[in-house]
Amino acid sequence: MTTSRELLQARAERTQRWVGRLESTPHRRNSFMPYRPVPGGPYVDVEGERLLMMSGYSYLGLAHDPRLADAATAAMATFGTGAHGVRALAGTTPLHHELEAQVARMLGRESALVFGSGYATNVGVIGAICGPGDTVVVDKLDHASIVDGCNLSGADVVRFRHNDAEHLDRRLSALTGDGLRLVVVDSVYSMDGDIAPLPQLREVCDRHGALLMVDEAHGLGVIGATGRGIEEHFDMPGGADIKVGTLSKGIPSVGGWVVGSPELTYHLRYAARPFLFSAALPPAQTAIALEALRVLDAEPDRVTLIQQESARFRDKVREIGIDVGDSETAIVPLIIGSDEAAYDYATRCRENGVVGLPVVTPAVQPGMARLRIAITAAHNRDHIDEALGAFAAAAQAQGLAA
Ligand SMILES: Cc1ncc(COP(=O)(O)O)c(C=O)c1O
Repeated sequence: MTTSRELLQARAERTQRWVGRLESTPHRRNSFMPYRPVPGGPYVDVEGERLLMMSGYSYLGLAHDPRLADAATAAMATFGTGAHGVRALAGTTPLHHELEAQVARMLGRESALVFGSGYATNVGVIGAICGPGDTVVVDKLDHASIVDGCNLSGADVVRFRHNDAEHLDRRLSALTGDGLRLVVVDSVYSMDGDIAPLPQLREVCDRHGALLMVDEAHGLGVIGATGRGIEEHFDMPGGADIKVGTLSKGIPSVGGWVVGSPELTYHLRYAARPFLFSAALPPAQTAIALEALRVLDAEPDRVTLIQQESARFRDKVREIGIDVGDSETAIVPLIIGSDEAAYDYATRCRENGVVGLPVVTPAVQPGMARLRIAITAAHNRDHIDEALGAFAAAAQAQGLAA
């Protein structure tokens, strides 16, 4: 009989084989760069090389802002270094209440709750709302944390074609039974940079009496005139029933949030297991998130800059002859084709001084491998032009240029 130790060994070896394929040559390894430390930004030091980072997530460019670091220091001086417990017992500080009030106010809802991560938020919210007998209907490209939340909830899970409201309509029409129906989408898709069609999704959900939940992980600070996300983008205040997001991307801390009615957050406080049974956000991270939201509120120009520069960047990339798909946001995929071609292209860009991280199968469809580029408020026009120069030269060298 195979022992548990042997079974574990076999599973670890399977992972090694899978990663080994991704990193099978120095060439692939150097463009893929998994788990390589990339401190700083927009220039990063990778193994002694100074490179321009074009694949980050810190959209608002606040990760090195001294105001955030000062807020963290002050919070630690007052409340200590850790949260000392779960929120329901010893873990709540006044900063948590302040952060929740700020999130609720900025996202146009009465109430908010802050979790330990965006992942925990999706798992906790979906699990607390849905259970056996209910159905969650998800976009095919929804983030893994949404998928995991669905699977852990015990509800039935149905997928609809990406950003296709008509297909969602058909999926909802086919459901039987009287359980709760929850439709979950990302506001901005992390590998494509396109935006969920909120008006159409809302209309379909209303017709079927379904709740609509939107994950703003890549929307907060990025879309909408002042970075408030998808409802501001479409001028549809209250367009989603439930909004969730992360505090680890545009807001450079850690944690996640949900906004909705006071009844919803009351329910989640007692029913969302990742909230109830996991330590509260540490004071420093809570203070950083709070300060970053204040900066977002006070400096909407950061959002304007991201939107203007990413539109200019997209146009220039198209001129080079590279497909950017349906991108409308700070996330701009440079779609190259095969995995090997994407690795080659990333390597060439790195040789030209620019990091563009490749995203290959199975994360994307075969033939759709890409470099996932994100324009942030830390990039000025010179940085972006430097990146465009590197992308154009690499495209020329690889025979991709128009
Ligand atoms: C759409 C989306 N939702 C949720 C998450 C998870 O957020 P966190 O990193 O805070 O756990 C991510 C992170 O990549 C994401 O892209």
